[in-house]
Amino acid sequence: MTDQTIIRFDRVTKQYDNDSPVLNDVSFEIERGKFYTLLGPSGCGKTTILRLIAGFIEPSKGNIYFNGHIINNVPANKRQVNTVFQDYALFPHLNVFENVAFGLRVKKLGKADINAKVNEALRFVNLDGYGSREITEMSGGQRQRVAIARAIVNEPEIILLDEPLSALDLKLRTEMQYELRELQRRLGITFIFVTHDQEEALAMSDEIFVLHEGKIQQSGTPIDIYDEPINRFVADFVGESNIIPGRMTQDFVVEFAGKSFECVDQGLNPNEPVELVIRPEDLEITTHSQGKLQIRVESQLFRGVHYEILGFDAEGNKWLVHSTKRAVVGEEIGLDFDPEAIHVMRFNETEEEFDKRLESYSEVGAPHGE
Ligand SMILES: Nc1ncnc2c1ncn2[C@@H]1O[C@H](COP(=O)(O)OP(=O)(O)OP(=O)(O)O)[C@@H](O)[C@H]1O
Ligand SMILES: [Mg+2]
Repeated sequence: MTDQTIIRFDRVTKQYDNDSPVLNDVSFEIERGKFYTLLGPSGCGKTTILRLIAGFIEPSKGNIYFNGHIINNVPANKRQVNTVFQDYALFPHLNVFENVAFGLRVKKLGKADINAKVNEALRFVNLDGYGSREITEMSGGQRQRVAIARAIVNEPEIILLDEPLSALDLKLRTEMQYELRELQRRLGITFIFVTHDQEEALAMSDEIFVLHEGKIQQSGTPIDIYDEPINRFVADFVGESNIIPGRMTQDFVVEFAGKSFECVDQGLNPNEPVELVIRPEDLEITTHSQGKLQIRVESQLFRGVHYEILGFDAEGNKWLVHSTKRAVVGEEIGLDFDPEAIHVMRFNETEEEFDKRLESYSEVGAPHGE
């Protein structure tokens, strides 16, 4: 824990009735002033974590700390936390100004104070002059901004955002991603953002927690998570991946698709079975003989910037390639890739073991000096 830690989950479990836990022994830390994303498929426990932080529910086991103090039983209205809900939960019978002012009126602030704070919050989200509009007269993106203004006007230490962009069309969604990120930087408040959209998570976050079945699978920067997925679930959920079964023959040598390849991984057991992740954009198309590996092209799609080529190697492994070069369906092509493009995943490795393993690589360095 550092001085910057604002929220800490210490082995938190949440269980309803006698069902299996919705969150299972989850520990993490949130630092002040950063943008965090909880990423995972439907039902993995994202909203449950937000509800625990907001104080709408209590943990079954474990402790939640806020600025170093246990807050398990502190009621929601006593926490320095505001939530932006997925459906915004705005009051349809109140205008924009009154929606934003609501929390301040509950706190019985004076009229001049309320005016100043609400107008400042509206300015912050680019809704200057919209105060007297009815909520029903606002577009989806504008309602979203009202919901954010309503959260920031209370000057909370943390803002929780539960899939706030999911109702918007793709273009507006991308614009709002920039706006939200920029807003977080200007405010310097901790944002905890929930999404099941991996691209959104990669684009927006300082740090991502990837969740699956009530457990944090991996936490790290977007680049860490994309480049070094800890297991099959993360590799598959975050970005597109080739996941190929293989075997570590010795340090820096891995065998898959019936051949041996140089890699950057070390410290595994000799002949340990592993899975390899190679991202489609890390594969380069070559002539048949120049490739480290050969595949027969099964199908090809033009995706605008690149071709998406699908093929199979001699052992029947499926390969997805993103390339600006096109291939010919039915032909055999070669694939080239760097040793660094191969990411070795052990079965059942904990995040701690995984981090330690990766750290040891950068200390010792791989034989080819990268
Ligand atoms: N009050 C409750 N009683 C029993 N089970 C619940 C309750 N609330 C949530 N759950 C269960 O907890 C699990 C996690 O729910 P949660 O809402 O945290 O998922 P989520 O990751 O936010 O999913 P989504 O992306 O669909 O919103 C689900 O299986 C859900 O059915
Ligand atoms: Mg949810």
